[in-house]
Order: sequence, then structure tokens, then C-alpha cells
Amino acid sequence: MWKVPLFNFVFDKKELDAVNKILHSGWLTMGEASKKFEELFSRFIGTKHAIAVSSGTTALHLANLALGIGDGDEVICPALTFVAGANSIIYTGARPVFSEITGLDDLNISPEDIGRKITSKTRAIEVMHYGGCPCDMESIEKIAKDHGLYIIEDCAHAPGAKYNGKRCGSIGDIGTFSFYSNKNMTTAEGGMITTDDDGFAEKARLMRSHGMTSQTLDRHKGRSFSYDVTELGFNYRIDEIRSAIGIVQLEKLEEANKKRRELDRAYREKLSSIKGVKLPFGKNPGTSAHHIMPVLLDKEINREEFMGYMKDKGIQTSIHYPAINRLDLYCNKLGYDNVSLPITEAVAQQEVTLPLYPSMGNKAVGYVCDSIAAYFTRRE
Ligand SMILES: Cc1ncc(COP(=O)(O)O)c(C=O)c1O
Repeated sequence: MWKVPLFNFVFDKKELDAVNKILHSGWLTMGEASKKFEELFSRFIGTKHAIAVSSGTTALHLANLALGIGDGDEVICPALTFVAGANSIIYTGARPVFSEITGLDDLNISPEDIGRKITSKTRAIEVMHYGGCPCDMESIEKIAKDHGLYIIEDCAHAPGAKYNGKRCGSIGDIGTFSFYSNKNMTTAEGGMITTDDDGFAEKARLMRSHGMTSQTLDRHKGRSFSYDVTELGFNYRIDEIRSAIGIVQLEKLEEANKKRRELDRAYREKLSSIKGVKLPFGKNPGTSAHHIMPVLLDKEINREEFMGYMKDKGIQTSIHYPAINRLDLYCNKLGYDNVSLPITEAVAQQEVTLPLYPSMGNKAVGYVCDSIAAYFTRRE
């Protein structure tokens, strides 16, 4: 349908063979492949533990629970992120407190505003590395240390991203990843939690599977005959099919991210001369995972008309994100109507996400950029 879709994934014989092997192995639910996926992922990120789960959302929920966040607590997070970031805090009984983003050049959470939002109830800061570009973690770590707060890193956009020589997901107390199908690596649905802390890892593992002290595989292997339940847990498990896909996708991640980086560079070169579009994240520190290609349209441009024009050209675009504090649930039902975040809300009105995926190629980037240039020439 699209000449240039927003994202695309390419599976080859490696994923097919890996899935085929599982289908013939006699074991489908969380087992040896999941364990191997966790081991490889923790080695890649550089944390002691990795816990594979059913989605990025369940990873976020368990991360909050593992830190002991619950009723009466506050967690500071951005409103310019996917709603799961805030929802997962609410699931625990805690309240998300939205912090501004840094500015039009840096769409990540603002350390300065985090400082302003801290109260006696604040327990943690949940950051999101927007588009794969690392947040200002030095400043955020300092704030967290000064106030005795935990840091959760939502790395849904940032698998492979680096900051001061460390991978995102290994900087804060706990990291979360999503392997949803539009992500830099995918298992269709899936997620991961990363941490160095033995206690957080143990709690996340327990809560992932009903708070049970032994797993089905343990009983299958004769390692255990029964189980106890020590916490009110969930079924947030991954399975062997997804883990097998994840192992192959992880192998391909760095090469895929390199291609994303080259495409990002090509976009920046071509778009820099077009008045009317601004490119955030030109000067951020660290190495981005280049999950998406966000641009900001000038205020006088009608975004819907622009996206419609791009659609007519066969180019799929998207928005990252509507401001969470302005969503009906938050604004009208959860009492966030008086929360004002002028920069976040301005970006939420102006942002358009252009296509970006490793197999895209420079020709498609050229087509997208020429189409944008033609749109602005037409308006002059
Ligand atoms: C920033 C962010 N956080 C969390 C999530 C939730 O991940 P999932 O869709 O795997 O539940 C997503 C995914 O869409 C995301 O983009």
C-alpha cells in the first residue's frame, strides 16, 4: 500500500530456522531458549541480569513493582512518551508526575524540571530515551543520588544506544525494553528487564510468573514436584518461539542500528536546507539507536494537511506522541486537567515521524526529502 512505509522488519532463514527448531523441540513455553535469550541480552547490555517478559508494558510494570513502588508514591516521568510509561506506574497504585522535556532540540525529559517536580512522595524517575537518543543521564543520576530516588530507564527506543561508554538499560537501577514489531529488534510482542541488582531481578522473576517458587519447566525436568506462591504475581512470561526470534534479532541489532545511523545522517543532510522543518537531537551526547526519525514542523504548518500530502505521495508518517496529560483518560478521568507542559504540548502538536528502517535505502530517503521540499516550495 505504501511506497515508503513508516517501518519495516525483515526476517530471513535464520529466524525461520530458529522458530522451526522450537516447533519441533517438544517445548514451547518459557524454557531453555528464553534463558539463553536472557543471558545474551544481559551480556549485550552489560547488566548482571536480564528477565524476558511478554511486552515492554509488562516490563515497565514489573520494574516499578521490583523497586517497591506502590500506593501513595510518586514517579516522575515524561508526558511525551507512549502511554504505557505512565500507565505502568498507575498499575502499582502510584501516581505519575509529568516532567517537561528539555526543549525543541532535545525531546528527552528535562533534568531541571525533574528537580522542580520532586516532593516527599517521589520514589523514582522513569526516563525514556526518546527516539533512541540517551537522556542527560549524568544530571539525572545526580538528582537521583541527591534525593535518594531510583532511576527506571524505558529503553523501548534504545536497544544498543550508548552513553558515557555504557549501554542504555545499564545506567539506572533498572531498564526495560520492548520487542514490539516496530522496534529496532522484534519478537512480535515481547520485552526485557535489565538490572545489576539481585533483589530487583528476583522480584521481577517471581512476579513474572504468578509469584510461583518453581516453574513448569522445573517440574517437567524433574527438578521440582510442587510449588508455593509467595506474591500476587502475573502471567507476564515470554515463550520459546519469541525468545528464539529474539536471539537472532539481537545478533543483527548492531548492524541494523548502523544502517539506521547512516539513514539518519542522509536525512539530516537533505532536510537541513528546508525551512519549515526542524530536526531535534542534532547535538545530544552518546550514541543513539535511531529508533525513529522525528521532525518538527513550523507552527503555521497544518500537520494533518502535511501528513495527508505525504500519504498522497505514498509515504507513511506518524506522531510520537500525543501528550499523555492531554489524553482523555489522564485529562478528564485521572485529574491531570490542570497539568500544563507548554514545550511537551507544543511538540505534541508539531511533531511528525518520517519513515526509518534498516532496509530503507538512500533512494527512499531521497524520495521522502524531495517530497517534503516540494511541499514547502508549493507553499511559497
Ligand atoms: C516508549 C515506549 N515505552 C513502552 C512501550 C510499550 O511496549 P509494548 O508495546 O511492548 O508493551 C512502547 C511501545 O510501543 C514504547 O514505545
